[in-house]
Amino acid sequence: MIKLLDPKTFIAKNQPVFVYDIHKSWEQVVKEGPIWKSGKFPPLSKEKKYKFLGQKLISPIAISAGPASTKIWTDFYFKMGYGLVFEKTRRTIPRKSNTAPNIAIVKLDHPVTRENLNQKLEATMEDSDWEKYKCMTNSFGNPSPAMPDWTKELAKQRKGVGDGQLLGCSVTATLHSGATMEDAALDLLMAAAAAAISGVQVLEFNLACPNVTENSVEGEMFQDEKLVAYILREFKKRFPEIPCGFKFGVFQSKQQMKKVFMAAGDNLDYVSGINAIAMTVLGKKGEEILPGRRTSGVCGKADQTIALEHIKWASEIRKEEGLKYEILGGGGIVEVADVDRYLSTGADMVQVAAAALANPLLAYKYRLFYDKI
Ligand SMILES: Cc1cc2nc3c(=O)[nH]c(=O)nc-3n(C[C@H](O)[C@H](O)[C@H](O)COP(=O)(O)O)c2cc1C
Repeated sequence: MIKLLDPKTFIAKNQPVFVYDIHKSWEQVVKEGPIWKSGKFPPLSKEKKYKFLGQKLISPIAISAGPASTKIWTDFYFKMGYGLVFEKTRRTIPRKSNTAPNIAIVKLDHPVTRENLNQKLEATMEDSDWEKYKCMTNSFGNPSPAMPDWTKELAKQRKGVGDGQLLGCSVTATLHSGATMEDAALDLLMAAAAAAISGVQVLEFNLACPNVTENSVEGEMFQDEKLVAYILREFKKRFPEIPCGFKFGVFQSKQQMKKVFMAAGDNLDYVSGINAIAMTVLGKKGEEILPGRRTSGVCGKADQTIALEHIKWASEIRKEEGLKYEILGGGGIVEVADVDRYLSTGADMVQVAAAALANPLLAYKYRLFYDKI
């Protein structure tokens, strides 16, 4: 058996708070790659003790769609020992990122609940505030390179996948105002087919982005049971071997969640959530902190209450209705101790985004301290 070293061994003394420089543009950050001063990675596990979507995996922790974009980033998280790494959401039509900065730290020390969703939150650009609040806001608007570029990149990214790991890709639709359900379905399926042909092993429809400034309908597609049922059915007809699911945001009720999951039926291999929660986030004096946006997606610790409520509902609905989807649960996991709480609430695998930027050794720490299987 390999002796596992203290996680500190892999962290340089001058390592900044985030592997992502929140003061730079998304395009620059993607190009420069993760800031990992030590250049050291823990040894990958040889044991595949976890199962998700029929595959045996080395870790029950995934990197949500978002933190990793292009090979330099997906390779980084594969080397860190995550079981599944998603490429950030892709589109069929290129889109630039919202204006930088795209991330700020939210000074929130209580959970977001359905009752306080309308509160105004204060954010700062002080990286060190993360240590106290473990909460951030992000607003990218699902930027995407052109389809010929990201499909070629995915094929290269696939080469970085180790034994007991999977590469996923998230896709969304680009909708003009007044777009119909048919427009959305066509665009989603075009993107999904391109990703599937490029070699992704898990396909996720992102139907819940809270930050698309041009057309907010893009963030609410997950509530539309007809759209969800249609895209999953048509995808599975063409790519029966590739597991697929969709990302949800805050459902209006358990009943609404049930309606959507039941409509999708057996074509739904997994459900993924929760996406960042759209809220008003401003600077100390009420000024915009992310330029041009007064609302943005809140993620990190404050999402725990709503995220766990959704995992519980998804797990109950699966049992009540005899459905077979698996649950990729996340939103709010910031410490290694959170992982088991999400798994015991009903998640089959968990996912992290904000914490992946601040605590990339999370999968290793779980293996070291909590792995009791
Ligand atoms: C830097 C960053 C980028 C994100 N980009 C995407 C994205 O492209 N697609 C998506 O579905 N979710 C995106 N998200 C949302 C996350 O996948 C996740 O659902 C949300 O942040 C809640 O999880 P967390 O509390 O672990 O951060 C992003 C989140 C972060 C922090």
